[in-house]
Amino acid sequence: MISQNELLKLIPEALDETNLPLSGRQSGKVRDWYDLPSGQRLIVTTDRLSAFDRVLARVPYKGQVLNQLSAWWFEQTQDIIPNHIISLPDPNASIVRTAEPILVEVIVRGYITGVTSTALWYRYSLGERNIYGYEFPEGLQKNALLPEPIITPTTKGGATGHDERLTCEEVVQKGLLDAKTWDQVQTAALAIFKRGQEVAGKAGLILVDTKYEFGIAADGSVVLIDEVHTPDSSRFWKADTYDARFAAGEDPENFDKEFVRIAYADKGYRGDGEIPSMPEELWVSASQRYIQIFEMLTGQIFDAGSYPVEERLLMNLKRAGVIS
Ligand SMILES: Nc1ncnc2c1ncn2[C@@H]1O[C@H](COP(=O)(O)OP(=O)(O)OP(=O)(O)O)[C@@H](O)[C@H]1O
Ligand SMILES: [Mg+2]
Repeated sequence: MISQNELLKLIPEALDETNLPLSGRQSGKVRDWYDLPSGQRLIVTTDRLSAFDRVLARVPYKGQVLNQLSAWWFEQTQDIIPNHIISLPDPNASIVRTAEPILVEVIVRGYITGVTSTALWYRYSLGERNIYGYEFPEGLQKNALLPEPIITPTTKGGATGHDERLTCEEVVQKGLLDAKTWDQVQTAALAIFKRGQEVAGKAGLILVDTKYEFGIAADGSVVLIDEVHTPDSSRFWKADTYDARFAAGEDPENFDKEFVRIAYADKGYRGDGEIPSMPEELWVSASQRYIQIFEMLTGQIFDAGSYPVEERLLMNLKRAGVIS
């Protein structure tokens, strides 16, 4: 395990952005990507940490964890649906098939929880009993297991737009997707979620909910893209303390990046106004948390790549022939 001191020293070196000698860099909140002449895409997962739709910090090894953990999950689910991965030339980078992203975020939920405006528990606590087109009974407790996992789609908001809630019917009615493709996507999403729950269960974790993105590949097939079952895209709870805490009316122990949101909420920040500054220890804990989740889920020892990342990345990309 990398020591707290080493992680602290790496914070200023954490990968903020890439400036590779390739044309047309694009970036999201967490990833930078470059469209390659081959029609493929190079995606670099940086160390940026986002919450409340903002980039809040840089967390050492976060990019590597997300890139390698997603790649691992893509492998674990490729018998269910093909995915975008072609290769991993570097711990922080993937070469993928560029797909036409489907403009629906496919969120699968196994439990009723969450306090953001699109979360099930939040809607339920407002008194809503029909949420995302599903009927919920009276008397549900926060963090309860749902009878079966459900899909609660939202629009893919893009850079500025906010994600809007949709029912499964509306995805087709609004013309976001044809019925046959949407059916295929839903079947795949539920099957990947089931696989995720099984794997997480063996690691002592509960996969609570998650977000998938799908795209249409050049040959017209539906592929799983973006990231899978990472602490950024999913909620994880500790399995062995769930029952007792649930019975006592306490929140489960979370094992994702929720503790970052909680640290901000404790300072009164919920996404609006000036961002409070946080002690560097929070980002050290975050780094340890990401590495720990990687190790728990994959059963592998995390093999920390060298810093500075961009130097190493450049070398690996030259070696892979992506950069001449
Ligand atoms: N194979 C692919 N083909 C095309 N686009 C892809 C592919 N894989 C991922 N993407 C897109 O690349 C972007 C990844 O960047 P990043 O994760 O930083 O976005 P983001 O700002 O977090 O946005 P979001 O909140 O939608 O995830 C996403 O917009 C995702 O839809
Ligand atoms: Mg993303």
